[in-house]
Amino acid sequence: MKIPLGRAALLTAAVIASATVATRLSAHGDVVPQAVDTSALPDIEGGNDAWVASNPYRGNAKAIEIGQSAYGQNCARCHGLDAMSGGIAPDLRYLELGDSGDEWFLERFRHGSSHDGKVYMPPFGDVLGQKAGWAIRSWLETKHTDE
Ligand code: HEC
Repeated sequence: MKIPLGRAALLTAAVIASATVATRLSAHGDVVPQAVDTSALPDIEGGNDAWVASNPYRGNAKAIEIGQSAYGQNCARCHGLDAMSGGIAPDLRYLELGDSGDEWFLERFRHGSSHDGKVYMPPFGDVLGQKAGWAIRSWLETKHTDE
């Protein structure tokens, strides 16, 4: 009886382990935006009701620092660590620099991307806000590459 009991225990352990992994995976898969502390950055007139068309923080060292951490918490799991995509989502180092890149960045950041009822990227505009969005964009511009 020793072997079957051992097996049963192993099986139980395996079931518990896979249930734990499944729970973790689904928690990981859910999008739980992480709040970003942007209090150190200058306010943007209009707040989240009036989004400006180009990045007011471009080149701002504090914004870049906040943006790096905000990216790591909210975007890296799809777009890759340090903005280097592992292939799940586009590589954001290739976003155009300057105002034209800002426009496309803002579109996706605010509204995300869905096709045929399937969410490819969740919207972040309302949850993280304009200041966090531009901070992330400021950091991304420091990672830009054309190669
Ligand atoms: C759940 C995965 C996921 C998360 C989290 C996510 N994205 Fe995305 N993102 C995608 C996918 C997938 C696309 C491509 C969508 C498409 O082409 O329809 C995309 C597209 C984009 C684009 C357009 C890129 C291009 O080349 O067209 C930008 C900009 C962007 N994301 C920024 C962000 C930022 C900033 C964050 C964090 C605040 C973020 N994303 C979080 C999955 C994600």
